[in-house]
Amino acid sequence: MPALVLLGAQWGDEGKGKATDLLGGSVDYVVRYQGGNNAGHTVVVGDQKYALHLLPSGILSPGCTPVIGNGVVVDPSVLLSELSGLNERGVDTSKLLISGNAHIITPYNVTVDKVTERFLGKRKIGTTGRGIGPTYADKINRVGIRVQDLYDESILTQKVEAALDAKNQMLTKLYNRRAIAVEQVVGELLGYADKLAPYVADTVLVLNEALEQDKVVLFEGGQGTLLDIDHGTYPFVTSSNPTAGGACTGAGVGPTKISRVIGILKAYTTRVGAGPFPTELFDEDGEALRRIGGERGVTTGRDRRCGWFDAVIARYATRVNGLTDFFLTKLDVLTGWEQIPVCVAYEIDGKRVEELPYSQSDFHHAKPVYEMLPGWSEDISKAKSFSDLPKNAQAYVKALEEMSGAPISAIGVGPGRDETIEINSFL
Ligand code: GDP
Ligand code: IMO
Ligand code: MG
Repeated sequence: MPALVLLGAQWGDEGKGKATDLLGGSVDYVVRYQGGNNAGHTVVVGDQKYALHLLPSGILSPGCTPVIGNGVVVDPSVLLSELSGLNERGVDTSKLLISGNAHIITPYNVTVDKVTERFLGKRKIGTTGRGIGPTYADKINRVGIRVQDLYDESILTQKVEAALDAKNQMLTKLYNRRAIAVEQVVGELLGYADKLAPYVADTVLVLNEALEQDKVVLFEGGQGTLLDIDHGTYPFVTSSNPTAGGACTGAGVGPTKISRVIGILKAYTTRVGAGPFPTELFDEDGEALRRIGGERGVTTGRDRRCGWFDAVIARYATRVNGLTDFFLTKLDVLTGWEQIPVCVAYEIDGKRVEELPYSQSDFHHAKPVYEMLPGWSEDISKAKSFSDLPKNAQAYVKALEEMSGAPISAIGVGPGRDETIEINSFL
């Protein structure tokens, strides 16, 4: 089974970095297929903690080739500083491959992200301000700049001119900002060309050849299912497809090659930025989840909104991704509650609803219907097998599995690589 997808089953920050790193030692390639440095993936190896934004978490496993696929948006300055930060800590990054078709987050895309958010005022999305949406918008509008354009100055200049034509009108006339000079942008981008050159490759060819040779390829999603531009809580979403299909388009690998799709699922729920979140807590339980779970954004430093587990969301993630497995993370954070509420359905306008409503208006006023599950007080962080868990923790996992529609094949009981209970092998 050569190709696996690992993705977020909720609103991001489920622990994808840890899960990817755990598998990194046994796979040949780890590929990011969408998103950009809006992601913040934490990996803890021994006493070392790494925060990765653009680089695939496999970069920390020496045998593994990290790949940035065509579906990713790349901010070259962020990429280079992430690489040099890792090099300073002794991590070898020389195997990295970057698709020449990946789009570049230009300085004007970052500016547009920030000014449009400011302009939206109370209705803002709460983006990470990294230029993600405007860069994907340029890609779809066919005025985007790709990594390969850095190697043809004339083409690059023409493309930046075309992109800035309309944007400068908007910046100066609508947003009251200064126009951005073409030469300045072109000069900055050309300055990255030589530094990135050793990594640029035809990643589609590399990955398909690897799969033909039975190498193991792991696709690492950024963000999560409910942040997907098509399947998430639009418009409070990111601008790419973190769902499983995104791995095919974002890496150029056919769906017939993918044998396993693993959903990373937090034992409770968090969300960053604006948008509906039925199980959100505004009381001391929410505060406790935030404190115990360390729920603060890796990228923006914002506090994450916290709430109880939502099985409706998990079922939805199983469906739209065709999940074969779940990796349940942060079960340890729930230690100490006498009873743990789990959302099993919603109440919408007085009616019980079992599945995620397709209507955004309905979802906005969905109220959670809770079932209470008995908690546990024993420390579970040293548990190595399912049977090491207290009976109530076992029952909590089993209940979540039943409600969510796919087997829970691993359980996280702490941030470290070895703080994981493996139930079914992923490889
Ligand atoms: P990602 O964006 O999905 O990679 O997740 P983040 O790294 O943004 O957030 C997950 C946080 O939870 C990180 O601080 C991880 O180190 C931490 N973490 C991951 N798995 C576990 C777990 O099983 N237990 C605990 N306590 N922390 C975990
Ligand atoms: P990882 O990979 C959680 C959220 C932002 C905002 C919305 C749109 O660490 O799970 P964007 O900058 O993408 O246009 O912002 O998406 N968001 C994330 N939330 N984890 C992430 O990544 C996120 N990446 C984007 O907070 O609500
Ligand atoms: Mg994160």
